[in-house]
This record gives sequence, C-alpha cells and structure tokens, in this order.
Amino acid sequence: MLRKSPFLFQIASTRTSKRDRDRSLLKHCAHPIAIDQDSAVGIEYLGGLVVELFAFRDEPPMAYPRIASLKTHDQFLSRLAELGLDLPSDENLQIGDESPLGQPIQLKRDVIGNRFCILPMEGWDGTTDGKPSELTRRRWKNFGISGAKLIWGGEAVAVRHDGRANPNQLIMTEANLASIESLRHELVTAHQERFGNSDDLLVGLQLTHSGRFARPNEKTRAEPLIAQRNPALDPRFGITDDSKLLSDDDLKRLIDDFVAAAVRSQRAGYRFVDVKHCHGYLGHELLGGHDREGEFGGSFENRTRFLREIVAGIRSEAPQLEIGVRVSLFDFVPYKAGDDRVGIPEPDADPRLMFGGDGSGSGIDLSDPSRLMSLFESLGIELVCSTAGSPYYNPHIQRPAYFPPSDGYQPPEDPLVGVARQIQTTAKIKQMHPNLTIIGSGYTYLQDWLPNVAQAIVRTGLADSIGLGRMVLSYPDLPADVISGNVMTRKKICRTFSDCTTAPRNGIVSGCYPLDPFYKAMPERKQLADLKSNA
Ligand SMILES: Cc1cc2nc3c(=O)[nH]c(=O)nc-3n(C[C@H](O)[C@H](O)[C@H](O)COP(=O)(O)O)c2cc1C
Ligand code: SF4
Repeated sequence: MLRKSPFLFQIASTRTSKRDRDRSLLKHCAHPIAIDQDSAVGIEYLGGLVVELFAFRDEPPMAYPRIASLKTHDQFLSRLAELGLDLPSDENLQIGDESPLGQPIQLKRDVIGNRFCILPMEGWDGTTDGKPSELTRRRWKNFGISGAKLIWGGEAVAVRHDGRANPNQLIMTEANLASIESLRHELVTAHQERFGNSDDLLVGLQLTHSGRFARPNEKTRAEPLIAQRNPALDPRFGITDDSKLLSDDDLKRLIDDFVAAAVRSQRAGYRFVDVKHCHGYLGHELLGGHDREGEFGGSFENRTRFLREIVAGIRSEAPQLEIGVRVSLFDFVPYKAGDDRVGIPEPDADPRLMFGGDGSGSGIDLSDPSRLMSLFESLGIELVCSTAGSPYYNPHIQRPAYFPPSDGYQPPEDPLVGVARQIQTTAKIKQMHPNLTIIGSGYTYLQDWLPNVAQAIVRTGLADSIGLGRMVLSYPDLPADVISGNVMTRKKICRTFSDCTTAPRNGIVSGCYPLDPFYKAMPERKQLADLKSNA
C-alpha cells in the first residue's frame, strides 16, 4: 500500500504527463505540493529514480515542508517559530558598502575582504599520485569566481599516502608541490579577472590524515588507522582487535609529516594551513580519545597534544605561515537507519567518546570545545572554522539535507533543526571567545533564505564569516550576487539532493549532477541514476 506523502506526489509527477499528474496519485497525498520551477529542476533530474522510489514503498515517513515552498520571509519565520528555532533572519538585504556581508575582517597580519568563506570540499577527482585533475582545477576556479574572500582550504589534502580518504585525494608531497601551487594560482587569477584585485583574498590549504576513514589504495577497501577503539564504529570497518591502533611513535612521525606538508604549503603560496580536526578523521578522533592510553589520550592535555605539537613544529619551521583549525564543535553518536529508514542512534555507541557531546549521545556540552578555543588563543591561532559531527556516521548534524545520501538514513528531524544547531553552537562559542575569528558552516539547507540568515548572523556578531559548502557547487557565484544585490538565480540554488555525497560513496567523482550543467552532461550522471535505481 502506498503511503500518503507529498514526496511521493513529487516523484510520481516525474513520469506522468501534466494531464495525468493528478487524481490517481494526488489522492494519495496528505499534503499535495505545488510544482514550481525549482521543483521542476529536481523532478526532471529525479525522473530516472522513479522506479527506485516506488520500489521502496516506504518513502520518507517524515515529510518536512520544503524550503522552496516557503515563499515569503514571513512564511520562513513562521516555520522557524513552529519548530521553536531561534534563528535570526533579516527581511531586507543590504548591498554594496552597506552590506554587513561585504565588510572586511582585519586579522593580525592579513585582511579578508568580505564575510563569505568557501568551505573545503573534495571532489574525489585527483590523480592516483595525488595531483589535481582538470575537474579539480575547474572546482577551484569556481571558488575563485565566487566572490568569497576567504578560501578555507580548498579541499582536504592528505599529508601522506596512508592518510588519504580515497585513492584520488590530493597529497602534499614534494613531487606534487608545483601542481598544488598552480591550483592556488589559478583560483587567484580567476578571482582577479572577475573582481579586479585579489589583495584581500585569503587562501589556505586544509591538511588532513583520514585515520579511521582512510581508503588510500582502493575506493572499496577501507584501511583504517585509528586513535582508539569505538564499539559503534569498529564493526563498520571490520575492526576486531587493536592492530589498527596508531602507536604514540606513529603519531610522532605523523606530526612531522604534517609539519613538512605545512612547510610545502607555505612554499606553494598558501597564507595559512588548516590542521583539520573535524568529521571523525584522525585529529578529531584524538580530541575524543578518552580511552586512549599513553601521551595522546585521556586528559585534555594529552588529547590536544597532537595539535599542539603540529602547531609548535609549524611555528618553528614556517613562522610566516598562519594556522587555522576546522573543528567539529560537537558530535553525536553514530546513527543508522531504523526500521522505517529514519535515523536512530546506534544502540552500542559510547557517548563518552564524542567530542563536545554531553554524554547522552545526542546532546551538546561545550566545556571541552571552549577549552580548546582558549588553547587556540594561547597558541596565537586566530582562525577557527566550526562544523559538527561526521558526514559518515551522523550526516544529519553535519550537512542537513532533505534527500539523504544513498548510504544514509532519512532525516530524524527537520533539517532546519540541524542548521540552527550548528549556527547556535557557533554563536555560543563566538560569544565565549570574541577574539577568535569564527567561520560558521551548515548554511546550505537554508537555500533561498541563506542570505537573510547570513546577514543577520554577521550583523549581530554571532559569527564572523559565513562558510558555504554545497551551495557553491550548484551556485558558485552566490556570494558575488548577494553582495552586489543581484536577484538570486533560483534554478542554481542547491536543494540538497546529496548527489555530491552519494556519487563518491559509490566511487564516482563528486559534483553537482542535478544542477550544474557541466556535471549534468557527464556520463557519470546516468551511472549515478542507474546505481541509485538498482540499490
Ligand atoms: C562533496 C563534499 C565534499 C566535502 N569535503 C570536505 C573536505 O574535504 N573537508 C572538510 O572539512 N569538509 C568537507 N565537506 C563538508 C563541507 O565543507 C561543509 O561542512 C558541509 O557541506 C556543510 O556545509 P553546507 O551546508 O554549506 O554544505 C564536504 C562536503 C561535501 C558536500
Ligand atoms: S550541490 Fe550537492 S546537494 Fe546540492 S543540489 Fe548539487 S548534488 Fe545536490
């Protein structure tokens, strides 16, 4: 029996003519939705997925109002109020010199020309020896023409081979230095050509070791290197003993590799490096390493030793290089699909291991993260990019989406709740540590209302800069449009279809297949659709 659902109607409409798009299916819908231009874009794309979606029969049990259906600012505010969310939003956007989003940020040594930041996003599209491909270059050039004046790392770049999250991740080796330098150069040139100057454009590189999520050799073969055992995650990687644990000596060698990669980044012209501590990768896992023995686990001092030693090494070897940290400010236990495909916490999870968690598994305690911010201040780190959780084990808190990635679960909450959680947590940290320059993340799900919330957040000082992830894959120059007061191009607004996540989970390069004409035309689009319909 088909369940009543607006989602069903939306999908059903894709295979029926306008005349038939109706009665037979409309009558099954609890809350029929209007098919507008934005939906049509998605519908056109989702056409290939109809079979799969019907096959499930248990279409999303939780159907939340789509953002595109909130046509006025009042409707958007009403939905926030319905959800009890305290999220500021400005009805009117200011432009040019008046725009809060157009104001510069003065750092100790650098200036950032405005309040938009491009968040790091890998494309799974480098060469097997870790150099950028044409697809990588295209993405970085798009970052350059975005209008954002802060480029937070471009994408995660491994410091050595065994730390790659996939066999196509970039690696900052000596042999790759020149090509990773050229990536930056091309981004800056694209920016300069479009906006006339790049003096106030700050470009950093994100350095990483993927730890538990390493897949350096084959897309399908996990080769985890872990900081500590984890009862909920170990079974997902086939870990049954301590053989995958990195020893203290291993970590010391890795610290040297981070420092060497940072020195190369400086030589390649990057103004700062991000010593990545988020999303369940190694640095982040160490922050929650309460069960780890030895010098790098247990106490706060030990759990932050890895970071402190990398920072000390960079200060000594590359004193002119600035350091930033991207950190998951809070974490929930891993989630999995429940019987109705809606996400539920893993029953075997140990909430003590979640950095910034309150011990319940799905709550926040900022004591440890706030201590970490104080540590950053004492280490002279100015730039912090806040994020949350992990895209692998609790994506709904990290990148809220209406349509989850294919290996995920249906959202257990209106994705707006996830957006507000990240924004409010970032705001609390900013209020506690006003001297840090804090970039927020997780805004894309706001879609049409992103600029309104972004302006209000910056205007009221709840964050210094607005980080953009998925939105710039579908709509690269959104920052330029917003600051100059152009009407947003609705057909480019990311509707969180999650294909940029689903594709790489299945070994296909990442990109915005639904909305970016370039990816739409690629054969991989069909491959992805087939794959989803055969799932
Ligand atoms: C395809 C894709 C690749 C990503 N790669 C990275 C990465 O390399 N490093 C990182 O810190 N975050 C990465 N992220 C997370 C984003 O930077 C961002 O935190 C997330 O998408 C939420 O922001 P949004 O709502 O604007 O998309 C990635 C996200 C996506 C969708
Ligand atoms: S950017 Fe990613 S999430 Fe957004 S519409 Fe494109 S594929 Fe979907």
